[in-house]
Amino acid sequence: MEDSFVIQGANPLKGNIILSGAKNIALKIIIASLLFDQEVVLNNIPHIIDVQELLNLIAHLGGKYQFKENKLLLDGRTISINKVALLHASKIRVSFMLFAPLLFRFKECFVPNPGGCRIGARPIDRIVEGMEKLGVTIRYDSDTGYYQARVDDQPSGGTYRFQKPSHTGTELLILIGLFSKSKTVIENSALEPEIDELISFLNQSGANISRSGARIEVNPGALLKQASPFRISCDRNEAVTFATLAVATKGDITVSGLSKEPLLAFINLLQQVGGGVDIVNNDTIRYYFKQQIRSLQIETSPHPGFMTDWQPNFAILMTQAEGESTITERVFENRFSYVEQLRRLGAEIDYIKIPTINPSEYFFFNFDPSRKYNQAIRIRGPQQLHGGVLTISDLRAGAALAEAALIAEGESIVNGASTIERGYERFAQKITSVGGDITKYE
Ligand code: EPU
Repeated sequence: MEDSFVIQGANPLKGNIILSGAKNIALKIIIASLLFDQEVVLNNIPHIIDVQELLNLIAHLGGKYQFKENKLLLDGRTISINKVALLHASKIRVSFMLFAPLLFRFKECFVPNPGGCRIGARPIDRIVEGMEKLGVTIRYDSDTGYYQARVDDQPSGGTYRFQKPSHTGTELLILIGLFSKSKTVIENSALEPEIDELISFLNQSGANISRSGARIEVNPGALLKQASPFRISCDRNEAVTFATLAVATKGDITVSGLSKEPLLAFINLLQQVGGGVDIVNNDTIRYYFKQQIRSLQIETSPHPGFMTDWQPNFAILMTQAEGESTITERVFENRFSYVEQLRRLGAEIDYIKIPTINPSEYFFFNFDPSRKYNQAIRIRGPQQLHGGVLTISDLRAGAALAEAALIAEGESIVNGASTIERGYERFAQKITSVGGDITKYE
């Protein structure tokens, strides 16, 4: 199986893109829907590999679904198995969020250590601690790689303060709070808009969840009932991918489906480097090449900062910027897998050391002082990239490498195309629709 994109680069990409539903919203709302005692209808669910893997996993547990076009009908009432199969769980990291519906239905469940992209160790220690604080008894069996979780009758509820925020951790604790005995309070929760969409979905279905800054209160006991189908918002990572492509290829792309609010940190930096951004209307933004791009120093951080998922795209743009740019990654400890690959296309890119006064606080992963990390890079531009053979190791790095190939002169082969399709719906078709020369070989 070839699983490759063949790309002829250096065409300015121009046209219109309609964004697909967001992976990181869809996956969590699908899992939350398994807590309902009725069929749930979700619209704008993207046809991507991660969604399909999750649906396979749910079907294996006995859940029922129909997925046509972008509409998903999902019924968790038929779930009859409380053990998540290792095969399916290893393919998708959010599988550990199934703790919530399985504990709700069976009071005991078995969930393996999660899989997902190789962007760091990605432990779930804070999440396990949070579950324990809410009254879940949880034990890890290192021989089998499974967690066994149990509640007597219901989780107790209570207060948990994340030492460092966790996006999916916050979402899982919200779901557990829904069927607890008493109120759940999550402090220092993550602030990502994807979490607020999960809260809206649940509140529209009768839940009583409120957020005040980083404090979330979940009042239990509501009977979840869907009044009307829920539409998943569009994907901000996809928006950033097409925005940076427009500017980096000296093109002009109008992106529809999302307002500027969830993208503000990105739009600010894009404007700072000289990228063209016009807000066309409430859900349409035009991104275009306006002038020679300038260099910039960026660091990633959780929302409302500059998101870790966007830095690989921005790195590609920075290869076209005048001067020396730096990117510091604070959220995950292995998010520069594209660096080696990018050098193959002629990019001038190196790891650099950044002096940090208190790395344990500065980084959002669990910093280990005895380990060596590569958390910052320097890019010198502008650089005319040339074609080459590239291998993808994680989703966002993969999209960025395809983007680099689209800027480069000549032909590139990008191996591991399906890794991009874990999170991007009709990736090659959308690139083609704005004038990119990309062909998938399966
Ligand atoms: N962490 C721990 N222990 C925990 C939980 C998190 O050490 O118990 C660490 C993580 O390893 C990471 C940091 O804390 O270094 C932040 O992790 P977080 O839990 O916030 O991230 P996540 O929930 O695993 C989600 C998205 C990511 C996105 C981040 C940041 C989903 C499915 N994944 O990850 O998306 O980058 O939040 O917003 O929602 C992607 O789509 O490519 C992707 C990686």
